[in-house]
Amino acid sequence: MTTVTPKSSSNPVPASADPLQLIDVDHVRFYVGNAKQAAYFYAHTFGFQISQIADLTTGSRDEADYLLTQGNIRIMLTTPLNKEHPAADEILRYGDGVKDVAFTVADATKAYEQAIKNGGVSAIEPREITDDRGSVTVAAIKTYGRCIHSFVSRTGDYVLPNVKKGGEFMPVFKKMDSPVNEYNAKHPCGLKFVDHLVGNVEEGKMNHWVKWYEDVMGFAMFKHFDDADISTEYSALMSKVMASGNHLIKMPINEPAEGKKKSQIQEYLEWHDMTPGVQHLALRTDDELSSVAELRRRGVDFLNLPDSYYDIVWDRVNKVLTENGHEAVREDHDRIKDLGILVDADDEGYLLQLFTKPLQDRPTLFFEIISRRGSQSFGKGNFKALFEALELEQERRGNL
Ligand code: FE2
Repeated sequence: MTTVTPKSSSNPVPASADPLQLIDVDHVRFYVGNAKQAAYFYAHTFGFQISQIADLTTGSRDEADYLLTQGNIRIMLTTPLNKEHPAADEILRYGDGVKDVAFTVADATKAYEQAIKNGGVSAIEPREITDDRGSVTVAAIKTYGRCIHSFVSRTGDYVLPNVKKGGEFMPVFKKMDSPVNEYNAKHPCGLKFVDHLVGNVEEGKMNHWVKWYEDVMGFAMFKHFDDADISTEYSALMSKVMASGNHLIKMPINEPAEGKKKSQIQEYLEWHDMTPGVQHLALRTDDELSSVAELRRRGVDFLNLPDSYYDIVWDRVNKVLTENGHEAVREDHDRIKDLGILVDADDEGYLLQLFTKPLQDRPTLFFEIISRRGSQSFGKGNFKALFEALELEQERRGNL
């Protein structure tokens, strides 16, 4: 028997503990037009397990949810089953995309109350979903545009370590058995966790949201790029990176900047009902080459780079690494070029990264596949090369 009740804070959390201390990225929820089909797309192309579902057959009457897992990544695909569900209107306006970046905390009600006290706006009042095996408490606040942050706390069988081992996500979920899961277990893509998650906000609003993450969530600025760093002749953006106190998650925030032609941030906003939202999720791997090779084999559509990129990349990157006393890029340079992977370096080391094309027909959400060898930045040196490649794509779509 599952019950859902409003919740006031009661869990025993030490008085000294910060209620907004984030334990993990509990899950990232996408609203999609057809979760059953989207689940197969993400499973087949990116190697996710379709782990659990909640739908009509499990007693979920107004939405269907598919939990996709890989490493410590949990993506929840949610589709509305009727027009009254709030996701129905959002899908009409924005297409498929990210609705919720949910964090595991010790006590969701206390985290929510603290965030509200800090100036946050409520999206979902605390509610507890219980059955005889445990409970999951969820509450949420609004962040930029159509997105929310849920706080999730778990007890009994539903604690996160159990979920990571394959235990049920919360009441009304059931485990899935699919041939695609067996295949993916034999052919891993190696994606481990959400490295960072980037939001696009309107022009002039970046600093507003930087302050919001400081004030409401207790985040701090991590790195800062200005538009001189990230611009081509035609388009530009400004970006500041916010990090949670324990650096569990980094959330760069972009706003469009003045350029001769339309920036990719502006293009995103125009295809997202002029509403801010999540632009990309960067998924971390320990082995960029193996991951990208497997993802390409599965048909993932990655951004194409100009050939000229590899004419200059090794001088650019290895110069920075030598100057800072780091080893040169150890992965096979020819294979990096064959796989079309981007490379960047800073004073802490280097990183390998590659961006997919949009994951749906609208040019909105995409993934990044990233691995780090010391570098904690986001590929600043690649932004110019990336923008030139992106503009080629925008030109093809008639959106430049
Ligand atoms: Fe990124």
